[in-house]
Amino acid sequence: MAQIIGAVTTSHVPAIGGAIHRKVQHEPYWKPFFDGFGAVHRWLETARPDVVVVIYNDHGLNFFLDTMPTFSVGAAAEYRNADEGWGIPTVPAFQGEQDLSWHLIQSLMAEDFDLTTCQAMQVDHAFTLPMALLWPDQAWPVKVVPVCINTVQLPLPTAARCYKLGEAIGRAVRSWNTDQRVLVLGTGGLSHQLDGERAGFINKDFDLQFMESLTTDPTWATQYSIHELIEKTGTQGVELVMWLAARGALGAKARAVHTNYHIPISNTAAGLMLMEPVAG
Ligand code: DHB
Ligand code: FE
Repeated sequence: MAQIIGAVTTSHVPAIGGAIHRKVQHEPYWKPFFDGFGAVHRWLETARPDVVVVIYNDHGLNFFLDTMPTFSVGAAAEYRNADEGWGIPTVPAFQGEQDLSWHLIQSLMAEDFDLTTCQAMQVDHAFTLPMALLWPDQAWPVKVVPVCINTVQLPLPTAARCYKLGEAIGRAVRSWNTDQRVLVLGTGGLSHQLDGERAGFINKDFDLQFMESLTTDPTWATQYSIHELIEKTGTQGVELVMWLAARGALGAKARAVHTNYHIPISNTAAGLMLMEPVAG
């Protein structure tokens, strides 16, 4: 059976694409952020994933406000990036792992998750930039399955529901009849608010407690409603549900292999965690 070898959870910010393009990763503003990925690169060299399940939120490239699925799973042979209006270069296309897509879709539907199935799907910065942070040469050595969670237009799925989705993704992957090595990548958060009176809002105390909870008490954040999470982490900070889903996929116990936290990248508190499942 397939194996989940770990989860990487990270923030996604369009400006990262600009920094990569301008090759300014070593400048003082960016260095504390990009340096966080060195440990992940070294881990990837030995962990050698074949497939990445990318849990992220689309921001209007593939789904616009008129049609907003709560949970959607890609089942395409290829996923392309396109200009979202941020002025950052697009990245090379990603090859889809369609066999896992359909296995995931069937398994999740059988567990009562009513999904939108996407046989054509464009992927935005929330998918492409974390992938480029993991594989800076952008010669993707992995196939992918996109899993999208709506955090753009209310009503949003609860944090508890997102954790359960992650648990179900974990069960589905572990029942996929191959010997492939699967990495889960969850992107979004941590605290940030891009608009309104609280634009620029960041909550470091909450972020650090949240990161700690993922190994000590992984459902801790699921006690909060979406509105409470927005209050605590900002309108876009609620993207942290992607971290909960990725953590859920690892099963009951996980350990942190690497952690980084840096404020700010653009308007965002940038977090990074690499976790491995712990047997038993
Ligand atoms: C920023 C953060 C995001 O999560 C996003 O999707 C777009 C922009 C920012 O901080 O600039
Ligand atoms: Fe975002």
